[in-house]
Amino acid sequence: MRTIYPSSGILSRKTVFITGSARRLGRSLALAMAEEGCTLLLHAHRSKKELRDLACTLRKGGAEVYTYYGDLGKESGLKRIIEDLKNTPGPPDLMILNAASFLRKPLHQTTLKEWDEVLRLNLRAPVVLAIELGMMMKRKGWGRIVIIGDSLGLVPYPLYAVHSIAKSALLPAVRILAEELAPEVTVNLVAPGAVLLPEDYTQAQIQRAIERSLLKTLGSPEDVIEAVRFFFKNKYITGAILPVDGGRSLKG
Ligand SMILES: NC(=O)c1ccc[n+]([C@@H]2O[C@H](COP(=O)([O-])OP(=O)(O)OC[C@H]3O[C@@H](n4cnc5c(N)ncnc54)[C@H](OP(=O)(O)O)[C@@H]3O)[C@@H](O)[C@H]2O)c1
Repeated sequence: MRTIYPSSGILSRKTVFITGSARRLGRSLALAMAEEGCTLLLHAHRSKKELRDLACTLRKGGAEVYTYYGDLGKESGLKRIIEDLKNTPGPPDLMILNAASFLRKPLHQTTLKEWDEVLRLNLRAPVVLAIELGMMMKRKGWGRIVIIGDSLGLVPYPLYAVHSIAKSALLPAVRILAEELAPEVTVNLVAPGAVLLPEDYTQAQIQRAIERSLLKTLGSPEDVIEAVRFFFKNKYITGAILPVDGGRSLKG
């Protein structure tokens, strides 16, 4: 078998846990971490087949891959993932908390059930995973955590009301996590803008997303990957929030 993933480099041989890694941005992050030579601990919820296919592709290239499944919005799913990660191959060195929903509803149309679902998945899950697994990293003596937030958490978009609120609450959470997990573990947040639009967006919606950025263009998964890599490789930044949004959050 031909090995295409490197065995040297600052991140090689490190284990990285990525939530929501079967599709879209999470999948791109998984492929990029494989290129860094990491051992991959990949999570999916509904996209089981996509994750199995991705794991197969990565293993063919020589990467070591472990897969985990579960609903991170549910207490049982969250607890099981944490338990599973304590075992084979042991607590990760690096973590990318990427899984989220994207509920398109103004406040007045949001049901109580939707409130709970969005807050559980987009806020509680990444913060609980960060502190529970972060404490394990801390005991090991080293770790790096990146939470994927959203530019809508910096400047809310009322059409995505509860999503914006949940992502906004990640901002103080990152600072609290950074304090609790220091000095062994760094915790930072990347806040993407329009890097990979929903698959059902119309041409008019795509155009509006472009117009809302200062740089008058869409971003790409690679823009987010570069920011994540930067936080993983840096040893003197924690509690930071980095917008990768073409300046959307400056415009309001
Ligand atoms: N795409 C963008 O332009 C953009 C812009 C700003 C911020 N972001 C942020 O970047 C991250 C990734 O974006 P994306 O567009 O790639 O996201 P996405 O496709 O909407 O969702 C990412 C993953 O979240 C997982 N997920 C959904 N519900 C779950 C649940 N109950 N339990 C566990 N996992 C669940 C899904 O896994 P399964 O498919 O396996 O169910 C999905 O693959 C998100 O945090 C998002 O808020 C993205």
